[in-house]
Amino acid sequence: MSFKNKVIYQIYPKSFQDSNGDGWGDIQGIISRLDYLKELGVDCLWLNPMTLSPQKDNGYDVANYREIDPRYGTMADFESLIKEANRRDMTIMLDMVFNHTSTEHEWFQRALKGEKKYQDYYFFRDGSPDKPITNWQSKFGGPAWQYVPSINKWYLHLYDVTQADLNWDNPEVRRECADIVRFWMNKGVKGFRFDVVNLISKANVEEDDPNLFDGRQFYTDGPHVHEYLKELNENSFGKDPSIITVGEMSSTSIENCVKYAGFDAHELSMVFSFHHLKVDYHNQKKWELQEVDFPLLKSILNSWQIGMQENDAWNALFLNNHDQPRSVSRFGDDQVYRKESATMLATIMHLMRGTPYIFQGEEIGMTNAYFHHIDDYVDVESRNYFSIMKEEGKKEEEIYAILQERSRDNARTPMQWTREENAGFTSGKPWLKVNANYNEINVEEERMDEHSILAYYKQLIQLRKKMPLIQDGIYEPLYENHPSLFAYKRKLKDEEIIVLANFYKENIHLDEAFDGYRMLLSNVDKEIYNQQLGPYEVAVLIKE
Ligand code: NOJ
Repeated sequence: MSFKNKVIYQIYPKSFQDSNGDGWGDIQGIISRLDYLKELGVDCLWLNPMTLSPQKDNGYDVANYREIDPRYGTMADFESLIKEANRRDMTIMLDMVFNHTSTEHEWFQRALKGEKKYQDYYFFRDGSPDKPITNWQSKFGGPAWQYVPSINKWYLHLYDVTQADLNWDNPEVRRECADIVRFWMNKGVKGFRFDVVNLISKANVEEDDPNLFDGRQFYTDGPHVHEYLKELNENSFGKDPSIITVGEMSSTSIENCVKYAGFDAHELSMVFSFHHLKVDYHNQKKWELQEVDFPLLKSILNSWQIGMQENDAWNALFLNNHDQPRSVSRFGDDQVYRKESATMLATIMHLMRGTPYIFQGEEIGMTNAYFHHIDDYVDVESRNYFSIMKEEGKKEEEIYAILQERSRDNARTPMQWTREENAGFTSGKPWLKVNANYNEINVEEERMDEHSILAYYKQLIQLRKKMPLIQDGIYEPLYENHPSLFAYKRKLKDEEIIVLANFYKENIHLDEAFDGYRMLLSNVDKEIYNQQLGPYEVAVLIKE
């Protein structure tokens, strides 16, 4: 399988590198950083959407699937990005947002003009103007239905009101989507990430959620989703075995992911699931803070490793992306033990069974932004919830404490390249403020230090490439009930490695001496395993 030895790097183009001083990252900016990415050792670059968009949800509101938004550059720039990446043995993965379109998309605009054909591309329903069709809630807050007075109809939007859900039960919609994938394949794109793709098949959009929840039971891993993905595979990317695909799965189950990403399933290469990134949600609610539930984190990661392994299916491995707070701030200590915690977290992810994803800046230990003024936040979800929490009566101080932990803008601040103004991201005014710590945390500094987080990531990436055991070995959890240690074994024939990671700053002593093993990798430069793990220390042992 072409993806087992690969490492994928996620670029958030808007925040990666600006080349023309307008404060937005762009394609020429990415091209200018390809040597850095090559040096890091990654194989494939996943780019968040750069197609034409009003940017209500930073490009996840697509107005034209075949046009590059001029703020990022031109189609010629994109073609040269593919060429330049390929020249360095890297490929490009694009984000396909097929659950919804922007309401500015031509299909939606024609639907609004009354064209029945395009109304059938979406979920338009007749109803009284004062009562939404169902009680479903949008994932960004508020009702999931919007009324359009000019045509006396409601339409469904699981996300922002400007992101109208597409009706995949309509074969025309499925044909259009396959056509779009083929369009990008013809340009030389070798990977696709499908946005919230397990939401595309809705059971009954006219049924109320009896539990007064948000309605997700009616559309998560819906009735025809596997059929539709098989069809998309057959009509587009399935024709080229070198293409890597990954589906973003919202609130899914192992059972379904085995079907999405089973080796013989003919759906996708792998899946992003998110249960392990909800272990600090109080009552399952993103906007209610709680300490990380470490035993739960361990048991979720272990059960996904084993569940997918036992069924010959494949996980995408990640703790960071453009929707998540920075992992070093969330699971580690981003002050005193920033280096130790960033490298420990990277180790446990990279040595698991699956394909690791690095989100830009993770490789230098970028932290949460900790903005404390609403004007500094740009993200639609953060801004909506700011108002919602205010209406609920929360004090501003409390709301900022929550946003500082949970806002997606924590991940989206510009990439920190140097100590120059705006961290070398732009010579203009950045679209989102640069994290104030760029003087200490930046690529330039990291590159000069051979013991840096960056240097450690390079080692991890090379280990995967060198060791079939990391690509193919069996995963076995260890110390499942230990309160602060995350540990596992990987095995392939006679080879074995053991990963021992201290998730906290208190020292751990282990009784086991692991005779017959030697140190393969240590994030604190220890040469010999001494049964002790200091703050956020990780030791990787290999059987001699
Ligand atoms: C998931 C994407 O990662 C997120 O950024 C976006 O807001 C939603 N899907 C809606 O497209």
